[in-house]
Amino acid sequence: MAPSSEAILEVRDLVKHFPLSQGIVFKRQIGAIKAVDGVSFDLHRGETLGVVGESGCGKSTLAKLLMALERPTSGQAKINGVDLAKARGSELKRMRRNIQMVMQDPYTSLNPRMTVGDIIGEPYEIHSEVAPKGDRRRKVQELLEVVGLNPEHINRYPHQFSGGQRQRIGIARGLALQPEIIICDEPVSALDVSIQAQVMNLLEKLQNEFNLAYIFIAHDLSVVRHISDRVAVMYLGKIVELGKDADIYERPAHPYTQALLSAVPVPDPEGREGRERIILQGDPPSPADPPSGCRFRTRCWKAQDICAEQEPLLEIRAGGHLSACHFAEAHDVINA
Ligand SMILES: Nc1ncnc2c1ncn2[C@@H]1O[C@H](COP(=O)(O)OP(=O)(O)O)[C@@H](O)[C@H]1O
Ligand code: SF4
Ligand SMILES: [Mg+2]
Repeated sequence: MAPSSEAILEVRDLVKHFPLSQGIVFKRQIGAIKAVDGVSFDLHRGETLGVVGESGCGKSTLAKLLMALERPTSGQAKINGVDLAKARGSELKRMRRNIQMVMQDPYTSLNPRMTVGDIIGEPYEIHSEVAPKGDRRRKVQELLEVVGLNPEHINRYPHQFSGGQRQRIGIARGLALQPEIIICDEPVSALDVSIQAQVMNLLEKLQNEFNLAYIFIAHDLSVVRHISDRVAVMYLGKIVELGKDADIYERPAHPYTQALLSAVPVPDPEGREGRERIILQGDPPSPADPPSGCRFRTRCWKAQDICAEQEPLLEIRAGGHLSACHFAEAHDVINA
């Protein structure tokens, strides 16, 4: 099913600052880690939005805000028009049911002392309206089948499964409450390359089957390439470029995205010809003390005086999409 134009999730100026304090008895706040610092986007029904950026740029914090596991410092996330931070009681419960998460590490995210049946069926303890007690075993077996596992293995423990199978268990658990949105936080990063493709294929199949909207988080642009309809590139708590899959990969306009793509290995050596290879220098600065103006300026080869003085907003159009760069200019990238 093609993604619709209906926004199922609307995120506006979402901010999460973690206070940094000093002192043991008398704690004083001496600053804040600006983990997510003004993020806005829409997610459409049935769509996959890839969210990409280096480790520490705020991807998981964004996921936790959307899951209502963290409270925002400011800004909003609305699911089907309702502000997540303002919802209470049964409305909040319904919203929580509607947005689920698949975690990065299939080795640590599953409780080793619980059977697979109990792990997948656990969400029904809180949301018993989805599956009454007598119905749960059958539901869990159905879920095992949907994710390509043997329903007869319902009483086995996580250690009896391989890494890829465990991630399937995590996915089955994410599906248990029949959500409309699933946040996949680096779901294949811990898996062997050969297994990654199988899990990605499963996620795509499930998306078509259940018309799911995905936020697919990765630290590497190549991972989300085929699954994403649109891609948001994050740097130090902000989205610096947002566009359709083809725009981002073929006509990136923000220097950071260009650098990320330049680091993507190209299997065909011919594809490298005539291409400038940009190597990103150093690590990102601390989110407790981000650079003034453009946060990428300390690593940007195009930086000018204005970049330190004025923050570029995600409003500059280049290559048919939005970039947060004063000098945004789309470049053709020939990547295999
Ligand atoms: N609970 C927390 N308290 C303080 N700082 C945090 C907390 N969670 C995350 N951070 C910090 O926020 C920044 C973003 O982290 P995170 O969202 O995990 O990034 P990513 O998932 O992109 O690697 C990092 O600097 C991290 O150390
Ligand atoms: S605004 Fe300036 S420093 Fe930031 S990415 Fe653009 S050119 Fe580089
Ligand atoms: Mg993370």
